[in-house]
Amino acid sequence: MTSEVQILTIRQPDDWHLHLRDGAMLEAVVPWSARVFARAIVMPNLSPPVMQVADAVRYRARILAALPPGAAFEPLMTCYLSDDTDANELVHGYANGVWVAAKLYPAHATTNSEHGVTDLVRIRPVLEAMQRAGMPLLIHGEVTEAAVDIFDREAVFVERVLGPLIRDFPELKIVLEHITTEEAASFVAEGPRSLAATITPQHLHLNRNALFAGGLRSHAYCLPVLKRERHRLAIRAAAVSGLPKFFLGTDSAPHLVDAKESGCGCAGIFNAPAALESYLAVFEEEGAVARFEGFASEHGARFYGLPLNEGTVTLVRDGRDMPERIGDVVPFHAGERLAWRVAA
Ligand code: DOR
Ligand code: ZN
Repeated sequence: MTSEVQILTIRQPDDWHLHLRDGAMLEAVVPWSARVFARAIVMPNLSPPVMQVADAVRYRARILAALPPGAAFEPLMTCYLSDDTDANELVHGYANGVWVAAKLYPAHATTNSEHGVTDLVRIRPVLEAMQRAGMPLLIHGEVTEAAVDIFDREAVFVERVLGPLIRDFPELKIVLEHITTEEAASFVAEGPRSLAATITPQHLHLNRNALFAGGLRSHAYCLPVLKRERHRLAIRAAAVSGLPKFFLGTDSAPHLVDAKESGCGCAGIFNAPAALESYLAVFEEEGAVARFEGFASEHGARFYGLPLNEGTVTLVRDGRDMPERIGDVVPFHAGERLAWRVAA
């Protein structure tokens, strides 16, 4: 039996990897994140992507305008890197506080990544400038070659791309986003202090069987794709380890139900409505509630060199049922009973 904590109060957490989209979807989803998180690293894979300082300033204003009245939530903007990113403009935007980090999407790795980087050789001056400036590089860590099995693309990226990148840029701050494999978890754990990783709720709860449970389950489809059970266990061990290299990043990625339930369903899981509750369930199952606050509220801020939040959030063991739909989006844990609830 686990110790039956009934109420848990922690320092207010941040979400270090979030897709907020734009327009009506932005308005529908941002309140769920602002309800719990003080800050979020906002992904730039809009169409067209957020690549210029002026795009980021305007997108940030739209995010703030979509917040419920009185909500305090700080979007931390990221620059979508392309082969043509200008190193000086990028670090200038970082020095001016517009950018908090830059995101590397290997071209064609995932949703709206077609303008991403085709070869790291093309952005060497950008990486050099970022290393000098102390600007974090956030990586979607998958190779894109069709010849590489989709379940191996992260592990192959770690070996072929991330290893050499760290050797060439030993001081560059890197976050390997949404890790899903044993290989990524151990590479990060054993890597330099400049290397960290985010972990999503879905990769802690589900293995790849969830994609085929009684039929094709497009709502369990995200990228990197769910992996085997041994990988899920390795990711869980990393999350609850207490190591400051691992921290919360939901990768909440809403798509309209029609775009998910299609012959070519979009990748992404909308987990914002119960992300913190979902993570806490994992920490409780692992007997690691005492290490939850570090993962959710401290490790990320310290890695980014940002102050810890002053406020708190309280979770109560007072279950609720996750609805099948929230507007036109199917949330993670739809139709399931959640043990925890964030107190109002
Ligand atoms: O599942 C995912 N959805 N993975 C990504 O890398 C992108 C995201 C999205 O934007 O929908
Ligand atoms: Zn993402």
